[in-house]
Amino acid sequence: MSTAKKEYKRITVKTLVDMKANGEKISMLTAYDYTMAKIVDGAGIDVILVGDSASNVMAGHETTLPITLDQMIYHASSVVRAVSRSLVVVDLPFGSYQSDPKEALRSAIRIMKESGGHAVKLEGGKEIKDSIKRILNAGIPVMGHLGLTPQSIYKFGTYTVRAKEEAEAEKLIEDAKMLERIGCFGVVLEKIPSDLAKKVAESISIPVIGIGAGPDVDGQVLVLHDMIGMTHEFNPRFLRRYLNLFDDMTDAIAQYVDDVKTQDFPNDSEKY
Ligand code: KIV
Repeated sequence: MSTAKKEYKRITVKTLVDMKANGEKISMLTAYDYTMAKIVDGAGIDVILVGDSASNVMAGHETTLPITLDQMIYHASSVVRAVSRSLVVVDLPFGSYQSDPKEALRSAIRIMKESGGHAVKLEGGKEIKDSIKRILNAGIPVMGHLGLTPQSIYKFGTYTVRAKEEAEAEKLIEDAKMLERIGCFGVVLEKIPSDLAKKVAESISIPVIGIGAGPDVDGQVLVLHDMIGMTHEFNPRFLRRYLNLFDDMTDAIAQYVDDVKTQDFPNDSEKY
């Protein structure tokens, strides 16, 4: 297996499938705005996910359910303006694709036309097969999302690890194979046992991107604000924090407040 980092001018869905075939791991992070997306793209991430986690991270909702299609398009178009290399995948939000395939296609078309995103992601397996097929038939690349699907949180009741029981694990494997069969270019597996994720990654040829799904998948995704430590109350085992920006920013802002109050800021070199 190759661990070498190849240079790609622009990541496409085909690049990702090739990466899996060549044993190159895929890096994916969320972003929801221009400034962050510029940094993430410039740092060399393969895929930027405009996740409906924007509902939590950007808007402060408890779940991903309240975010609207218009709001997702706003976030996605800001990200697209910043990106020159990464593939931009945009979540279809709750309520924009579950009722019927025509509505799903309309929502996906709005995302593609109005944001300029490169692909969409939908949560679920065989229950939404017809909607996914309809979107794929329109030439829109689709990424699946199985395991813990946060849009179904009120059905699950908790954010605990999914598919620990045999029946749910078997359905997940069947759903992953179905997603590959109908033409999805990849699938996210969220918070499932590592052995199951490995089995899925070995049984399909499209990339499997894990979050809380262990190391034996084809790539990893994290929520940007969690991995740079801007959020600090969410501490699942799978989360590695690379910075502690919550504390660093709090200190910087407190210092600024102090400098303003004590008239240290602005000084002579900071005025016209
Ligand atoms: O919305 C999101 O951020 C996601 C990731 C957790 C995969 O779907």
